[in-house]
Amino acid sequence: MDVDARRIVFRAIPYGLHAIGVRRGEERNAFTANWVTQCSFEPPMLAVAVENDGASIAMIRESGVLSVNLFGADQRRAAARLARPAARAPRKLEEMQYRDGSTGAPVLLETLGYVECRIVAELPTGDHTLFVGEVVDAGVFREGAPLEIHAAGFTYGG
Ligand SMILES: Cc1cc2nc3c(=O)[nH]c(=O)nc-3n(C[C@H](O)[C@H](O)[C@H](O)COP(=O)(O)O)c2cc1C
Repeated sequence: MDVDARRIVFRAIPYGLHAIGVRRGEERNAFTANWVTQCSFEPPMLAVAVENDGASIAMIRESGVLSVNLFGADQRRAAARLARPAARAPRKLEEMQYRDGSTGAPVLLETLGYVECRIVAELPTGDHTLFVGEVVDAGVFREGAPLEIHAAGFTYGG
């Protein structure tokens, strides 16, 4: 394989940026993710690829829920702050405004809107794990353009 070509193609894929809200008991966290996609119309489902060595993966496995919150184009700084690993920034969620959603997962109030998912499947995918969630709740907070990875000047992988 031409690794440079793969990197160029991977880095050109357009993605949105999302805050993934997670919960385990009274512990809450959120992290920035671009590897998010809808994967079913009916029932509505999403897939999210989650780092194997982050703090959030165990929280998702234990609670079986997560929220996907859509960053607005004006939230570049928030996306950068939530991209810090929880091991280095254990209270990063406290820097954001949030409430608990109907699943218990935190929902971020300054984003454009959110969906909440109950995890229905998990697939090992190399250094990440793909979680498939059925969407069980949703809300819109405000209108606006979403934050996109190239416009934000971020990269993840390649
Ligand atoms: C632009 C960008 C995109 C990211 N996308 C993902 C992603 O799709 N999945 C993921 O697990 N981590 C992603 N990360 C890393 C996370 O934000 C975070 O650092 C990591 O998951 C560990 O977080 P935690 O310790 O709070 O669980 C991304 C980071 C950046 C800067």
